[in-house]
Amino acid sequence: MNVYDSARIADMLQKEGYEEAKKQEEADLVLFNTCHIREKAAEKLFSDLGRAQAVAEERRAAGLKTVIGVAGCVVQAEDEQIIRRAPFVDFAVGPLMYHKIPQILRDMTENNEYKGVVHTDFPADSKFDFLPENKAQGACSYLAVQEGCNNFCTYCVVPYTRGAEYSRPVADVLKEAKRLIATGTVELNLLGQNVNSYHGEDEQGKERDLAYLLRRVAELDGLRRLRYTTSYPADVTDELIACHRDIEILMPYLHLPIQSGSDRILKAMNRRHRSGDYLRIVEKLQEANPALRMSSDFIVGFPGETDEDFQQTLDVVNRVKYIQAFSFKYSRRAGTPAAVMDNQVEEKVKKERLDILQKLLFSNQEAFNKSCIGKVMPVLFEQKGRHKGQLIGRTPYMQNLHIETDSANLNKIIEVEVIDATTNSLSGKEI
Ligand code: 5AD
Ligand code: SF4
Repeated sequence: MNVYDSARIADMLQKEGYEEAKKQEEADLVLFNTCHIREKAAEKLFSDLGRAQAVAEERRAAGLKTVIGVAGCVVQAEDEQIIRRAPFVDFAVGPLMYHKIPQILRDMTENNEYKGVVHTDFPADSKFDFLPENKAQGACSYLAVQEGCNNFCTYCVVPYTRGAEYSRPVADVLKEAKRLIATGTVELNLLGQNVNSYHGEDEQGKERDLAYLLRRVAELDGLRRLRYTTSYPADVTDELIACHRDIEILMPYLHLPIQSGSDRILKAMNRRHRSGDYLRIVEKLQEANPALRMSSDFIVGFPGETDEDFQQTLDVVNRVKYIQAFSFKYSRRAGTPAAVMDNQVEEKVKKERLDILQKLLFSNQEAFNKSCIGKVMPVLFEQKGRHKGQLIGRTPYMQNLHIETDSANLNKIIEVEVIDATTNSLSGKEI
């Protein structure tokens, strides 16, 4: 979502006459778009800001002004504190207020004074109504269809930083999708923190679900691949599962976070699914499309997690054989219910569990990648590789694949034979 937001911020700035600086030393404006999901992500901001300030000082010595701004969820969580912790920051906007950036910048240049503006309201109007039209940046594009979350998992800051669930109307989504396709998008990834609880209004004012939206988007001329991220297991409906059977361009890869395999921990996390429910959903999805493979997020060391709970997470991994996954040590986030639970797990234990889990996840990922050797796959080439004549693309399963090929194949889907594989990428040759 932050990648999407950053691109939309760049669209706005371009419209204001800004262009991308090649080096930070050349930048008149430095803007950080931030994540607050885990402590590490938030801390990174303050060290990056320190470096930006040092560059700004050097520029000042040379008579150049630098505006430093911060956007995103750290701003929402820190509010005015952000300016207190980093007083040289000129402005800060939360994730629902970034449409204000052009106005803030105009005010700053017109008044020519230090402002220290902070915007962290949850506005009644959607920011999407204020953003300029966007264009595809390449063959693969994100499109935010839903934002915010009402689930309140006990470890998570998202309901506080991105606010309550909001779904964009069907017509807005289709309009943006058409524009992206017309400007080069081949693969579209519909985004939302809780994308499968999408409930936007259609052209007649009727509330529609994600399954409906996927079918409408899939009909658009020129679109070759469709994905959606991230889903909440308890909101996976039979209609959504049927999409995986019916929609040919819906890719056979789904990110469906379980977080833990222990029902006791899932309950403490306030997740509305148990491991049995989750496994049944995966089974149904794979009945709908036998080629479908899964990825997930995991948290280890949630308060109260015992060795037995952790073993149940490993059991799920052994059952589902995820082809990719993200796994994290539980991070205490101020203001969330789990942060004040008195049965916090020791850092050492968290680390040990994460190592064990990641070893297993990586070995499954590598086994899947190696099982692809000798197979022919359609690969969408989306960027140039490091070496001349090399392109990097993605397979239907989101694996990165390198190939030596004509650069005319950039932004095209080409049938490729996989010739080698590691944990993180594949290499192939044209057939
Ligand atoms: N600690 C660790 N991981 C977290 N996530 C969310 N909040 C926390 C936290 N407090 C993880 C979840 C989620 C992903 C985006 O980040 O696994 O699915
Ligand atoms: Fe956070 Fe996802 Fe839970 Fe919402 S569903 S509270 S975004 S982990």
